[in-house]
Amino acid sequence: ETDPVKVMKQEVGKAAAQRVQSGTIVGLGTGSTTAYAIQYIGDRIKKGDLKDIKGIPTSFQAEVLAKEHGIPLTSLDAVDHIDVAIDGADEVDPQKNLIKGGGAAHTREKVVDSLADQFIVVVDSGKLVERLGSTFKLPVEVIPMAYAPVMRAIEKLGGKPELRMGVKKAGPVVTDQGNMVIDVTFDSIDNPGELEKTINNIPGVLENGLFVGVANVVLVGEVKDGQPLVR
Ligand code: A5P
Repeated sequence: ETDPVKVMKQEVGKAAAQRVQSGTIVGLGTGSTTAYAIQYIGDRIKKGDLKDIKGIPTSFQAEVLAKEHGIPLTSLDAVDHIDVAIDGADEVDPQKNLIKGGGAAHTREKVVDSLADQFIVVVDSGKLVERLGSTFKLPVEVIPMAYAPVMRAIEKLGGKPELRMGVKKAGPVVTDQGNMVIDVTFDSIDNPGELEKTINNIPGVLENGLFVGVANVVLVGEVKDGQPLVR
């Protein structure tokens, strides 16, 4: 692999997979970086290096990938805790607060990631920002019948909302739960914790992509002097 961003994602995914211990329940995140972690967890299981793991997927994508790589799955009604969750992010600030939902999976991700005793974020260095919202629009999952009033309410908060449209589909992106996603540009997000609550309070909003105080560890993949490293 020569694409530096892919190399960073691969290395950081591997580093997270190495932290998983036998006999644990593991939250499996969504996106291209976590996909590498899922792959390496599967490799460790095949080698016999990791035993008695149960995965809890955060999306249809994670579920399919986990099955493909031989990770046994369970669900939240069958377990009383999650030991560790591994998940990507679209932006990470210096306080380990995140914007997620680039893959429209943030609602289930927030359920799983916040239940984990330890939530490990895996990103390439391009995701690091001083202030959330500076490079990425904030995803907000809404139930379809409420998308218009939710967009108006978000405008009143000073945001610029856009309904996320499909790439190879006519019409809006539909989430794993059958809802829609509004991507919101804010001039600046001064208080992520407050904005997270304010947006979730709008009737019809299911969940937004601000993850405040949820991440415990952030692993960052970098390429320095042509060499990949994780810090
Ligand atoms: C999915 O909804 C997101 O929260 C992902 O975790 C995020 O988009 C990271 O994806 P990549 O690792 O592909 O950048």
